[in-house]
Amino acid sequence: MATFVSSDQIKDSKLSEKTRKRYNRIASVYDQMECFVEKKFFSEWRKMLWAQIKAENVLEIGVGTGKNIPYYPALAKLTAVDLSEGMMAKAESRAEQLNRVVDFQLMDVESLKFPDDTFDAAVATFVFCSVPDPIKGLKELSRVVKPGGDIWLLDHVRVNKPVIGTLMDLINPLVVRMMGANINRRTLQNVHQSGLKIHNVTNLKGELVQLIQAGPDKNRSSASKI
Ligand SMILES: C[S@@+](CC[C@H](N)C(=O)[O-])C[C@H]1O[C@@H](n2cnc3c(N)ncnc32)[C@H](O)[C@@H]1O
Repeated sequence: MATFVSSDQIKDSKLSEKTRKRYNRIASVYDQMECFVEKKFFSEWRKMLWAQIKAENVLEIGVGTGKNIPYYPALAKLTAVDLSEGMMAKAESRAEQLNRVVDFQLMDVESLKFPDDTFDAAVATFVFCSVPDPIKGLKELSRVVKPGGDIWLLDHVRVNKPVIGTLMDLINPLVVRMMGANINRRTLQNVHQSGLKIHNVTNLKGELVQLIQAGPDKNRSSASKI
């Protein structure tokens, strides 16, 4: 059953509010917009990611329309958050159809309302490309995941090649306006800067999509610079 908390808390940040409105606008067509890449690539990557999660108490950030729900481990207890009530309503129906109990909460990853060290693991797929302040969000994940827990990030990132990278920078504003996602995020760099410990990085489509397995480094109090 969904627990929708008030959206007032996410109106604190103007950029988050803009992101929320953008995803609310595209929620009804989101699955159709993504159906080709979902079938051809994403579904396989989701399956591979979730098969590695053995944790009991798991947080999914930016659940969207709930495309990861079919892959949730059978015995795990899932909490799922998102900024957009439009996207989350889709996820809620999907969970109901799949008969899967999920604790849905409307929340901004930049200011999570969970106590420190709540979860055994956290997962975000194609989310940190649209979080307005990714480092703030990653630090929040580090706070709410227990020491020794895993933080899994699957995302498309800026390709580190002069021509393609520059092209991605140039068309990024247009893509953000249409889709809500940045195509030129340096996610691995952001993970470093947020002070997380990186355990593993898998390149999935050349350097365009990465699966990052990281963990909180509770010994580091402030962000590191690279
Ligand atoms: C590109 S969609 C991906 C949805 C889903 N994770 C998937 O794999 O299909 C990005 C999602 O992240 C959510 N999101 C963006 N910024 C967020 C934030 N600051 N806090 C929580 N959710 C956020 C959006 O509302 C949207 O549902």
